[in-house]
Amino acid sequence: MVLEVEVLATAEEVARRAAGVVLEELAAGRLGALGVATGSSPARVYEELAAAGARWEGVEVFALDEYVGLPPGHPESYAAVVDRQVRAPLGLAPRRVHVPDGAAAKLDAACADYERALAERGGVDVQLLGIGATGHIGFNEPGSSFASRTRVVELADRTVADNARFFDRPEDVPRRALTQGVATIGTARRHVLLAQGAAKAAAVRAALEGELSTDCPASALRTFDDVLVLLDPAAASLLDQRTTGRPRPVPA
Ligand code: GLP
Repeated sequence: MVLEVEVLATAEEVARRAAGVVLEELAAGRLGALGVATGSSPARVYEELAAAGARWEGVEVFALDEYVGLPPGHPESYAAVVDRQVRAPLGLAPRRVHVPDGAAAKLDAACADYERALAERGGVDVQLLGIGATGHIGFNEPGSSFASRTRVVELADRTVADNARFFDRPEDVPRRALTQGVATIGTARRHVLLAQGAAKAAAVRAALEGELSTDCPASALRTFDDVLVLLDPAAASLLDQRTTGRPRPVPA
């Protein structure tokens, strides 16, 4: 089990480092499946990947999660976001991109289908992750079992509020989602979690230094095999020196 924490000077460096891990696996012929997160944290990583001029044919992409209840094609559905930020820039065929079907009539069946698609591909090789202010990974909110698999979940009020910035009106923000479970995420061979900004500092501390607990689903990272946590100084600002290998910054 390896968990490394790196604090980098800027969000750009965080993105470059994360992209470097993905490109290294691709170049070594070990990237059969890339796991992608949505949200602001990894957006720059995808720009870096697209700019690298690598060949992506043969790589499958799996999203972590999807809202329930948005009409298919809604620009803020994660299917649309992954299409815009990942599939098109990397020039991938649509059939290589997998997102749980949040518009399915039978949501439980859609979750089982997603687990099956992941298993058929042999799981994800590199999983990019963000972290929610609640400590969620994917949409596994506090209380999510470390043994959880892909399923329908209710979003925490804080998550709904945080995601309101993507929607015109607060009442448009979905309150339910399909998400890979904590255990599903844990099946990836390598994990790269990115966090930038002071709003993530408390969640990052809980994930890395708090109790191993479903109160902070991201603490499950410490049970995964190969994890790289990439932080900017603000996201790392509440961490102990022993976690980061560098002194805590003195507040201005
Ligand atoms: C979203 C996604 C997560 C993401 C997180 C953080 O709601 N479901 O996969 O990691 O919240 O988002 P951001 O990077 O925008 O802060």
